[in-house]
Amino acid sequence: MTPSVGHRPRVFVARIIPEDGLAPIREACDATIWEDDLPPPRGVLLEAIRGCDGVLTLLTDRVDAEFLDAAGPQLKVVSNYAVGFDNIDVPVCTTRGIPAGNTPGVLTETTADLAFALLMAAARRLPEGDRYVRDGRWKTWGPMLLLGPDVHGSTIGIVGFGRIGQAMARRARGFGMTILYHDVQRADPGVEAEFDVTFLPLEELLARADFVSLHVNLTPQTNGLINTEKLSWMRPSAVLVNTSRGPVIDGPALAEALRNRTIFAAALDVTDPEPIPPDDPLVGLDNCLIVPHIASASRTTRGKMAEMAAANLLAGLNGERLPTAINPEVYDPA
Ligand code: DGY
Repeated sequence: MTPSVGHRPRVFVARIIPEDGLAPIREACDATIWEDDLPPPRGVLLEAIRGCDGVLTLLTDRVDAEFLDAAGPQLKVVSNYAVGFDNIDVPVCTTRGIPAGNTPGVLTETTADLAFALLMAAARRLPEGDRYVRDGRWKTWGPMLLLGPDVHGSTIGIVGFGRIGQAMARRARGFGMTILYHDVQRADPGVEAEFDVTFLPLEELLARADFVSLHVNLTPQTNGLINTEKLSWMRPSAVLVNTSRGPVIDGPALAEALRNRTIFAAALDVTDPEPIPPDDPLVGLDNCLIVPHIASASRTTRGKMAEMAAANLLAGLNGERLPTAINPEVYDPA
């Protein structure tokens, strides 16, 4: 850990983030930065935040009553280096009057890029092809070798039509896809027209889509959303893409569906748990592509996330409204 110095606001930064965020934090604060690649173990984290005025957390750090108790009553702000905030107990933060921030918007396009890359890679079996070559199995051009579905002109079902779901729709449109979507809240007719998308109940969307891409927040309602029953509604040729959160899919049910060819393939940026153990049944399946939660991992986007997380942290320390607060109700409890 970088030792802290001086009498400025005390903050704990739970991992090294790009300098775009670290530089302003170091300049304004007495900052302790956790420099390991792995997150601070819970006990170490709770000790490290004791007496801090602000904490910059990652999606790997749980922010709950225990965390806030450990920090102490002087804590002014929690800034999460992620758009997703299922690691934060928002009502507890609000009840205690602690504003919490996230990083929406800046990672939308980068995340959709990765979701579309996963979709194409799983459809066209790129990881299998790569392994085939490296294993020395490539003997000749084969008319039946590594066949998969076409992406262009197919039908995509987007589950969760927020910022990233909409960015996915823009990409799908470029490939001439028919675009279906499902969300708890149906979009305005103007938005549907702009994106050329059709709203469907989830059951119908799953039955009709060649590709299903998940873009929902993780909530009690979406936990285990894609389970054995939902997988059974999908087409045997379908590809499932998840760049939202791992627990949105029931992992053992997905492994079963991929093994039985209930669906053709899956491509996952997120798993439950993370990291996924090497002996998880999903890891052993050729038709399951898994990458380590890297959807926002472009240099530019991670830099912008860092800037935004720093801006939230510094605003909270100064008693100003966070530029992007998860719990704006903290400012207006009525
Ligand atoms: C997020 O921000 O929620 C992503 O999962 C990581 O960038």
